[in-house]
Amino acid sequence: MTANQVLSRSTEQTIAKGREIAARLRPPLLVLLTGELGAGKTTLAKGIVSGLGAATEEEITSPTFTLVHAFSGPVKVYHVDLYRVSEVQEFDSLGLEDLFSEPAVVLVEWPERMRLRTDWPVLRIGLEHAGEDARKIMVEEISADSSTSHATGGAG
Ligand SMILES: Nc1ncnc2c1ncn2[C@@H]1O[C@H](COP(=O)(O)OP(=O)(O)O)[C@@H](O)[C@H]1O
Ligand SMILES: [Mg+2]
Repeated sequence: MTANQVLSRSTEQTIAKGREIAARLRPPLLVLLTGELGAGKTTLAKGIVSGLGAATEEEITSPTFTLVHAFSGPVKVYHVDLYRVSEVQEFDSLGLEDLFSEPAVVLVEWPERMRLRTDWPVLRIGLEHAGEDARKIMVEEISADSSTSHATGGAG
């Protein structure tokens, strides 16, 4: 599996990278954002969702209490954050199965906390701390490998 790796040196650069990624995303697509707390998953999501024209950067915050934020613009976008899901759960038991009822771009933070099978294409993006304001962003090729049960094995 090939990964395209870049170094971001600021919050703004990560948002810009998200916008750049968004330009080549087409629904239906599941985007898995991995990386520890503060790695920049939500920041990258700001760039991706705003780049898709579904919301402004300010509207994209961590969906803490609801698990999911829905945005509708030229494409339907869902931003899911499973940080508060303590044990690995079946996706259906999270009540989120409707997200796949029509073509959308579904972004998931902490995807290792769910198990999901979908026939949608999957894009894995891993983020890592690389110094105070530096982050390594690893973007894998979009693949048809549709199981998230090994989400931590790829982009890290
Ligand atoms: N290069 C960078 N890329 C992304 N975020 C950065 C960067 N440098 C500093 N930060 C800061 O790190 C924090 C990342 O938070 P957030 O995106 O919410 O992370 P996560 O969703 O992975 O927990 C933000 O406060 C952001 O401003
Ligand atoms: Mg987050």
